[in-house]
Amino acid sequence: YKRVTVKSLVDMKQTGEKISMLTAYDFTMAKIVDEAGVDVILVGDSASNVMAGHETTLPITLDQMIYHASSVIRAIDRALVVVDLPFGSYQSDPREALRSAIRIMKESGAHAVKLEGGKEIKESVKRILNAGIPVMGHLGLTPQSIYKFGTYTVRAKEEEEAEKLKEDAIFLEKTGCFAIVLEKIPAKLAKEVAESVSIPVIGIGAGNGVDGQVLVLHDLLGMTHQFNPRFLRRYMNLYEDMTQAISQYVEDVKSVDFPSEEEQY
Ligand code: KIV
Ligand code: NA
Repeated sequence: YKRVTVKSLVDMKQTGEKISMLTAYDFTMAKIVDEAGVDVILVGDSASNVMAGHETTLPITLDQMIYHASSVIRAIDRALVVVDLPFGSYQSDPREALRSAIRIMKESGAHAVKLEGGKEIKESVKRILNAGIPVMGHLGLTPQSIYKFGTYTVRAKEEEEAEKLKEDAIFLEKTGCFAIVLEKIPAKLAKEVAESVSIPVIGIGAGNGVDGQVLVLHDLLGMTHQFNPRFLRRYMNLYEDMTQAISQYVEDVKSVDFPSEEEQY
């Protein structure tokens, strides 16, 4: 495999090849995602919801993110692996932000980090970039700020927030970020942003006028079934298929159908 790099992503934007990105949090899943040809694997802090069952992304710790990231890194041959800096590991001061980013890079072997926010995290982004660590931005519905928003509805529908988002995207590009995630904003605004910067813009609930798409793996596979935003396309219904397979196993154990003659020594 030819490895995906931050450079190849920028090249993809230039040639118009869309970027595919998916989350993964463990070795077994990451191996499948990588072999299926996904360009970027995000070790998202959505692990807080998907893996740990928390209601928000806020509780997951830096140590837990490093555990997930190192499991993913051991599985991949091709994809670029980006890891979220979790809530509380970068907001209080730029030096702490750099220390957190360095821990992720050293202890997991990841290739880049992602931080939520625009100008307000300027110094942190600069410090991390100065250390040679690639940074992906994340604007729009930034789930670490959910208690400020109060709702998971579409962001930047109003002029003021849309203007700030546009400025933040240009700011992140100028500062040196290699890509930006835009989450749950109007498609028209996302397209405008993608056209205004030369770095790739990867959307989730941001329409098809951007340079790539990202989804949470467990949502795409239909393993989660109580989360139904409009932007989510389910490619499987694993929740049902797995429930069926596992109930069948229970039945087979109870009826002593399993193990059969051929399945014993
Ligand atoms: O944590 C995550 O899964 C994310 C994506 C939804 C962009 O940040
Ligand atoms: Na995230």
